[in-house]
Amino acid sequence: MIHTPVLLREVLELLAPQKGEIFLDATLGLGGHATAILEKIGATGKLIGIDADARNLKLAHANLKNFSNVKFQRANFRKIGNLVKANSVDGILLDLGLSSLHLDNATRGFSFRNSGPLDMRFDSRQTLTAAEILNSSTENEIADIFFKFGEIRSSRKIARKVVEFRRKQKFLRTEDLVGIIEIKSLLPQIFQSLRITVNDELNSLEAGLHAAEKILKSNGRIIVISFHSLEDRIVKNFFREKKKARIFEVLTKKPITPSPLEIHENPRSRSAKLRAARKI
Ligand SMILES: C[S@@+](CC[C@H](N)C(=O)[O-])C[C@H]1O[C@@H](n2cnc3c(N)ncnc32)[C@H](O)[C@@H]1O
Repeated sequence: MIHTPVLLREVLELLAPQKGEIFLDATLGLGGHATAILEKIGATGKLIGIDADARNLKLAHANLKNFSNVKFQRANFRKIGNLVKANSVDGILLDLGLSSLHLDNATRGFSFRNSGPLDMRFDSRQTLTAAEILNSSTENEIADIFFKFGEIRSSRKIARKVVEFRRKQKFLRTEDLVGIIEIKSLLPQIFQSLRITVNDELNSLEAGLHAAEKILKSNGRIIVISFHSLEDRIVKNFFREKKKARIFEVLTKKPITPSPLEIHENPRSRSAKLRAARKI
């Protein structure tokens, strides 16, 4: 099982991995980008691969079995500052969000196209699920989630429908949620907003970026690939702030996006935006 790595050529150009260097792949996934990095750093280099998802980490283990210089770690990347020493890595990759496997696996509840439990956790050790949010949050809190993380204008109306539904029965499955949404074109944003909340994704990204700055060596490179404007804004602002403070040189004036050919071959890459920086 593999996950086609997004913007791979651009990642390698900007990360510029050299023989013997140390890299942190903070979103290892199925190890697509990691394989290419490992080939460049050779046997004298080292890769630390982090993922919050135990199943993906296991698959990455199998996909990277030919490399003996990988350290696997199940963790949220917001904690990389506790896992890796300051000023110790030559490059960091954050390829945010879901892997294609998450969407394809109905039992994880990430896809509105598949019937499954309303789960959406990357890390199954955490207790909060999407169902829990819909069943227990107030109407206002639910409206805020749809508005802030899904950028949905009719968020109040949909939150009201959620509360009406749960008066009769609990939310358990993806189809419970799909069934109350009249405008089906809103489903991607509805699901995205719940996923962001379940995994506290925007706060994790902020914390991960601050930790990344500390663990990079001088001249170390960082790449972030994001998949929606809320994430990209955080990355853009963080890089801008660090540039002002003369801590980072920004390597991408504008975000890099996939070519029409890449989008054709890998539709999941469609909304990707890549930004890169170098620690001065
Ligand atoms: C887009 S996939 C990465 C794909 C990978 N680059 C590849 O080529 O196979 C994102 C991965 O990051 C993981 N992930 C998302 N947020 C995370 C977080 N805050 N901490 C750790 N892992 C996270 C997900 O479980 C998923 O496996």
